[in-house]
Amino acid sequence: SIPIVLDVDTGVDDALAVLFAVRHPGVDVLGISCVSGNAPLAQVVDNTLRILDVVDAPDLPVAAGAVRPLLEPPRAARQVHGRTGLGDLVLPPTRRRTTSTGAVELMRRLILDHPTPVTLVALAPQTNLALLLRTYPEVVGNLERIVFMGGSASVGNATAVAEFNVWHDPEAAAIVLDSNVPTYMYGLDVFNRVAVDREVAVALQHGDDPLGRVVGSLLGHRVVLSEDERARYTGLIGDAGAACSLVDPLALRTEVRPVRVELAGYGRGQTLVDLREPSRGESMVQAHPGEWTNVEVALEIDDERIARLFLDTLGLA
Ligand code: BDR
Ligand code: CA
Repeated sequence: SIPIVLDVDTGVDDALAVLFAVRHPGVDVLGISCVSGNAPLAQVVDNTLRILDVVDAPDLPVAAGAVRPLLEPPRAARQVHGRTGLGDLVLPPTRRRTTSTGAVELMRRLILDHPTPVTLVALAPQTNLALLLRTYPEVVGNLERIVFMGGSASVGNATAVAEFNVWHDPEAAAIVLDSNVPTYMYGLDVFNRVAVDREVAVALQHGDDPLGRVVGSLLGHRVVLSEDERARYTGLIGDAGAACSLVDPLALRTEVRPVRVELAGYGRGQTLVDLREPSRGESMVQAHPGEWTNVEVALEIDDERIARLFLDTLGLA
């Protein structure tokens, strides 16, 4: 199975991703690092610890990381993830505790101690990853790749052009792209596509299965915006789709494309993806080393297949 370190800002859909990753036999979650993003850090940590109880996860190390982005103030997405970051869901308190050392130390240890290369799966602003790469650059030697939910080759969500995770900490994302670790971008182009049918989500939420009730509630409460938006977003599995892509990569169509993160002006936080003919695109990376990086960008997804994988894995199909 694929050894991963998960970096999260739990977060309604981060919670779905944690449930999936812990349950899927093809994924070996070595540990989880938390970062401020969808919710303030303390809330993210608490949500992450509690959600682990829902699937009776083994005693995984969970660490607290950055309390804010490198430069920006934290800007929790309360309008999307609700006051606690888990929508309407209230989970019982847990006996689980964070590790005594912080996220950067935990990530370093898990990566360097593992006998085979580890995949870093980032479902949040990439502050912890940037701090790790700057503090312990030697981890690069034992990283298989970085799979991140973030960015977009088309429309944004935090701004017209920027996706939330990259927008929340653009400098961190730029550091990650510049790290020489192979990167895989699960951006809004695919993120916005994968949903469980609204009726299925509602049935789970009101059903008898305790795990189903939690999953149904998370799926149902993706957004507390307008009725229109609620209808559009209900059922989105969000970050969980990035976790699914680890075990079913053939359900996605990807292309290796030059990507850069915009740091200035109205485009701040945008991922520019050069979608021109590859022969021209290659030259962006060669002509501007350090400014453009070749990234495997997910552009299309078999959404029904991924939604099924998600539900099957949790025994909810
Ligand atoms: C990203 O931001 C958060 O709302 C989600 O958890 C996801 O990681 C989408 O832009
Ligand atoms: Ca997230």
